[in-house]
Amino acid sequence: MSVLIGQTAPDFTINTTKGTIHFHDWIGDSWVFFFSHPADFTPVCTTEMGRTAQLAEEFAKRNVKPLGLSTDTVEEHLTWIKDVNETQHTDLEFPIVADKNMDIADLYEMIHPGENPNQAVRSVFIIDPNRKVRLTMTYPMNVGRNFDEILRVIDALQLADAKTVATPADWKPGDEVIIPPSVSDEEAKDLFPQGFTTIKPYLRTTRV
Ligand code: BEZ
Repeated sequence: MSVLIGQTAPDFTINTTKGTIHFHDWIGDSWVFFFSHPADFTPVCTTEMGRTAQLAEEFAKRNVKPLGLSTDTVEEHLTWIKDVNETQHTDLEFPIVADKNMDIADLYEMIHPGENPNQAVRSVFIIDPNRKVRLTMTYPMNVGRNFDEILRVIDALQLADAKTVATPADWKPGDEVIIPPSVSDEEAKDLFPQGFTTIKPYLRTTRV
């Protein structure tokens, strides 16, 4: 079963560096940045874990809980976290799933045929407080993720929910947004009293 946008994120119970979590309960009223990486004690993963820890305040500001995963044990994770903190000058506080048996990696299709059968690729799932999958992204083992983009898509998703808008290519917070085609001009007048620009009937922009 693929984990697709719009579906309920599969639930699971698993041991982590912060104790056992029941995923759907653990989500609470938060958003989740759930991300896998191939293995502990590897260089790219060390930088990604460090970056996630460094961005703790940015995630918290957006009501997002990070949750890491790799197919190693809690003991290995805890030893490696010391290296992450030392080399990336941070204090990693978020939980990392210990998925030694690859149960969750299989459930979320993080093991890709043609890659190492014992290691997860770099999957990202952004999950909302309704437990719905809102974004998926997959990077190969040898390319670290762009954390500016991860924060940007979270901002875009949260703005889309709050203001009934869509965001154009390369959108950044503060830029103009797009009025989705599902909103009629009449509705748009109510929703966006500040006004909007019609470039084409299907391409309308505004500021929120
Ligand atoms: C890394 O995190 O550095 C890495 C892990 C698996 C394959 C290649 C790189």
